[in-house]
Amino acid sequence: MKTLAILISGQGSNMASLARACLEERWPARVGAVISNREDAAGLALARELGLPVHVLPHAGFDGREAFDAALARQLDALGADLVVLAGFMRILTDGFVHRLEGRLVNIHPSLLPVFPGLGTHARALAAGVRVHGATVHLVTPTLDHGPILAQAAVPVLDGDDAARLAARVLRAEHRLYPTAVRWLVEGRVRVRDGRAEVEGVDAAQRLLWEATA
Ligand code: GRF
Repeated sequence: MKTLAILISGQGSNMASLARACLEERWPARVGAVISNREDAAGLALARELGLPVHVLPHAGFDGREAFDAALARQLDALGADLVVLAGFMRILTDGFVHRLEGRLVNIHPSLLPVFPGLGTHARALAAGVRVHGATVHLVTPTLDHGPILAQAAVPVLDGDDAARLAARVLRAEHRLYPTAVRWLVEGRVRVRDGRAEVEGVDAAQRLLWEATA
């Protein structure tokens, strides 16, 4: 049985989809804690409703990134977290923290990486005029929004889209994509070779999710 820690800063909808999938699909895992760096994160109430243990570690109380990441690492160690899942966790992590968790730290980013790393991805996709947008699940490396790609979800950009409509379409796809990819990690199927992820028993088509609906 693996222990997952899910890190959030906001509404926590990906956290909820992961926690539900873990339970309903009977993963060999449990959510040991939902940790937020913000006490006003709406996702905390959702986590409590789901009966998940909740911890708040407000970053404002720490003198710099190193100190915050050290406290976070201690909390993850105390939980015995095997896998650390970033789900809208709005903090840049230090290299030391990332290296310690190599292969066990996963993120979802709302674009088809390597395009549009960073913030404001939906508005940037619209401004660029791309026809396809989406989300990426990747292992975390010290470079922001970078790292071996486990799976991607693609959605169309439709007439009349604004950033909010496009974001909602991507988020719906994220809720299917993230549990799929995290489950592969839980099942120990992921290997990294030459900077690229390989997923045992999973073919290329299964690592791409198409979400054609509006
Ligand atoms: C998602 O779009 C995710 O890709 C990004 O932050 C957002 C979090 O949404 N990293 P939620 O808090 O899971 O609802």
